[in-house]
Amino acid sequence: MKEIIKLSARAAKVDFSKDALETLAIGIFSDVKGLDKFGLALDRSAGGAISVVLSAGEFKGDMGSCEVAYSKGAAGPRRILLVGLGKREDADADSLRKAAAVAGKRAVAAKIEQLSLALHKAAPRIKPAAAARATVEGAYFGSYRYDEYVTCGENGRLAELAVCVVDDNRKTLADLRQGVAVGDVVGQAQCYGRTIANRPGNVINPPALAVEALRMAAEFKCIECTVMDKKQLMRKGMGGILAVGAGSAGEPRFIELKYTPARPRKGSPTIALVGKAITFDSGGISIKPPENMEQMKLDKSGGVAVLATMKAVAQLGLPLNVYGLIPAAENLPDGQSYRPGDIITTYSGKTVEILNTDAEGRMILCDAIAYAVQQKCDIIVDIATLTGACMVALVNHMAGLMTGDDKLCKALEKAAADSGEKLWRLPCGDEYAEQMKSKIADLRNIGGKWGGACTAAAFLRQFAGEARWAHLDIAGMDIFAQANAYAAEGSTAFGVRLLTAFLMHMAGGNR
Ligand code: BES
Ligand code: MN
Ligand code: ZN
Repeated sequence: MKEIIKLSARAAKVDFSKDALETLAIGIFSDVKGLDKFGLALDRSAGGAISVVLSAGEFKGDMGSCEVAYSKGAAGPRRILLVGLGKREDADADSLRKAAAVAGKRAVAAKIEQLSLALHKAAPRIKPAAAARATVEGAYFGSYRYDEYVTCGENGRLAELAVCVVDDNRKTLADLRQGVAVGDVVGQAQCYGRTIANRPGNVINPPALAVEALRMAAEFKCIECTVMDKKQLMRKGMGGILAVGAGSAGEPRFIELKYTPARPRKGSPTIALVGKAITFDSGGISIKPPENMEQMKLDKSGGVAVLATMKAVAQLGLPLNVYGLIPAAENLPDGQSYRPGDIITTYSGKTVEILNTDAEGRMILCDAIAYAVQQKCDIIVDIATLTGACMVALVNHMAGLMTGDDKLCKALEKAAADSGEKLWRLPCGDEYAEQMKSKIADLRNIGGKWGGACTAAAFLRQFAGEARWAHLDIAGMDIFAQANAYAAEGSTAFGVRLLTAFLMHMAGGNR
């Protein structure tokens, strides 16, 4: 099996007109005519190569666009990637992240070995550390491809890419290095998540996901990983996870990752991240139509986002206690499957009438959320490819955020802004909970035709007890993510950057 691209990132001070860089990426705004001082100097040393491209008029600096200028100068970069940053007034760290992703994608396609990035030279308003972090995260994101099972054909690419955030100012170097270090951890964690998520159902079933979690955790002293198998789930009474996993020969698992920092910050909350890991969602007895069913291997994306975030948390050494809870099951039709009409007693003791076996995510999440409450977690954030209804509302542009806690909502929205992984708040109040009541059990697992994202969230909310809770519905973010200027097809591991940014924010003393 081939390795995913090995990317090494660093920051360095360079002399742009002299140092022999293989490829240098610079940012260009779409609404700024001509080059700035930095661009002009570079253009001069490149023998006018940049102005040749710009005056041709095809490249306009739009976000997502990229053009190559080959230097005619004797010194300096041999190849200059002009990368669009969009409008100047809209520029933020995410513009740099996206531009770096475009450059990273181009670098892999063109078999470039060394990519130097000076995108922030165009956007001096963005602080050097944040700029470097976003740039490295973007380079990881864009250069990623999932090809571990491609053994022949046109997919050849280099095994390694050296990425360097470069500046001609020695003063910013320490900040740039610090940003690169964080971006390196987060970018790598996200690529790790994408690979695990992209692995198909015959490779990753619940037991295999548990083995992967144990393997990942074994790399870190600060993470303890325990796995409950079917027998233990039965002893514990985790009826939701057991019901959903009953139809698969790949038995369900409950994966618990516990991160304990070397030095916890005083008064910091204990946070649980709960991720839905349905390794394949056929719908079960309420089987899905065949179109796009193969995409349902990505129904483990929430769980994988938690797994990858835990890796990042350990590498960053964040000073707060974090639980990563991953209920894992495969939803298949079989003689042993749970069925419509069944009444399931969940871990919390609440009973649920099953009306559609395809609404399985909430059935595994409710057990894990109740478990987090029992572990006395102060804050619970769950993340799940939960409903098609969330995609109807938000497409694949942003994920749904449901919570009754305005402060937690703000903290997550701040993380969304920091990470470029966007959220939009949707309601999950009593009106929606009303739709989840059953006549013959405490709850039912579907809430009628409309507002499916909100009723699903209102269902989960009832298992969080007194804990502060938020739910992220990422259905469209991974499962219907399509290849674009920034990303290859397949998983985006949405949530890894977001959750890491959230935990960094909380570790910084915010609550
Ligand atoms: N994993 C799906 C949600 C999903 C569907 C994500 C399509 C991405 C694309 C989930 O388990 C599901 O099947 N949800 C049902 C719920 C319904 C039966 C109430 C849905 O959204 O159709
Ligand atoms: Mn389903
Ligand atoms: Zn599902």
